[in-house]
Amino acid sequence: MTKTHPGHCCVFGLMWGDEGKGKVVDLLAGAYDCVVRYNGGANAGHTVWIGPEKFALHLLPAGILRTGVVAVIGPGVVVDPPTLRSEIAALQARGIAVAEHLRLSNRAHLVMPYHKAEDRLSEARMGDERKIGTTTRGIGPCYADKARRSTGVRFDDVLHEPNLEDRVLRILEDRRSALAALGGADDPGLDRAEVLASVRIARDELSQYVCDTTRYLFDAARQGRRLLFEGANGMLLDLDHGTYPFVTSSSTGPGGIAGGAGVPPTMLRRTLGVTKAYSTRVGGGPFVTELADETGDRIRKQGNEYGTTTGRPRRCGWFDAVACGYSARLGGATDLAIMHVDTLAGFERVGMCVAYECRGRKIEDPPAGVAELSRCRPVIEYLPGWGEEVRSAASRESLPDQAQRYIEAIERRTGVAATILSVGPERSQTLLSEPWRSCVAAGEPTS
Ligand code: IMP
Repeated sequence: MTKTHPGHCCVFGLMWGDEGKGKVVDLLAGAYDCVVRYNGGANAGHTVWIGPEKFALHLLPAGILRTGVVAVIGPGVVVDPPTLRSEIAALQARGIAVAEHLRLSNRAHLVMPYHKAEDRLSEARMGDERKIGTTTRGIGPCYADKARRSTGVRFDDVLHEPNLEDRVLRILEDRRSALAALGGADDPGLDRAEVLASVRIARDELSQYVCDTTRYLFDAARQGRRLLFEGANGMLLDLDHGTYPFVTSSSTGPGGIAGGAGVPPTMLRRTLGVTKAYSTRVGGGPFVTELADETGDRIRKQGNEYGTTTGRPRRCGWFDAVACGYSARLGGATDLAIMHVDTLAGFERVGMCVAYECRGRKIEDPPAGVAELSRCRPVIEYLPGWGEEVRSAASRESLPDQAQRYIEAIERRTGVAATILSVGPERSQTLLSEPWRSCVAAGEPTS
């Protein structure tokens, strides 16, 4: 390992997902050998631009776009076989050689069509007030089956269980009775042919990528290869630490790596927390700094804040230093990446939430439960905005003074240095400080 290389690193979201992790991972992947997904499934969405070409990835790690990088889908990821198959096909059609560069864990669970049916039906039953606002990709029901054990289906089962199809059809019939009670007896996700098709795609088309990824990563690290972990979703959607129950069903932060990738926590050298210069959230749940007004609409428009996975308009608000500081603490962030600095250009003043007010008290840690969180009001400090175009800035120092002061305020509030700033969607519109600058230059991408 060269002196300046930061070593095995985790890129994770500090908010409710959609922070721009895909762009960061894609960029840093040039300096790494393996990019590893360890949590979530097709609920995640990365948009990566290479020149005029747009790539939307849900299951494949963003690093798959780099020549020479091995993309690993770890045991903690839940994999929807038809989705993975079509992502592979789309990249192959663009000349990206997926076969040599993908490893899929034999311990990863399959998302089945009945999981998606259950996700849709249980959300519909909850009504607008209580529904989680999931991506309906079957994530929660699949993780529930994994925890229930007898109803989980793993890639290893696909390879080795003699009567897997019979077992899956028995699970399906049990699920049909349960979902009939929710009015879903005819849901397409309960179609036998669909369910068997998923198992067969896994067996006939995906098994070529399946291996023990824990051994693969262990050996790779021992041989001096560098690992980049790509957290899906965001810390505030973490099953344990997020805004429960309005969360996803996995461990989204660096803490998820030990279980979800099977790589010991002692290996990690760097933890890069990614946030936007403001906040967004999709789906339900409390959002203390939400701006349900013209300012929020303007952020949405300027930042093109619509979901990659579902196309839903994202809820927008000012930067929340309380929530972000909490996430940085939980994830042990050594560095910050602040994305969308350009989106805030043109605002006369820019707000930052520096504390919550809850029942007449000022608090600096988010409460654990939604009842109390919903009572919190943001204490907003305003900083002068920046009018100039920042997209062409070549360094942090060449940003307008006001933008620099704003970034410093985020660093002060979170206690973490911002070593990456994004000022536009292109790879080139990213301002890197050390340790990334020299190592990314050294591993400059070929794609
Ligand atoms: P699920 O992960 O589909 O079960 O959705 C649970 C909650 O997490 C919902 O509010 C989703 O909108 C949200 N969510 C899950 N993944 C992402 C993501 O990658 N970005 C943003 N929100 C997400």
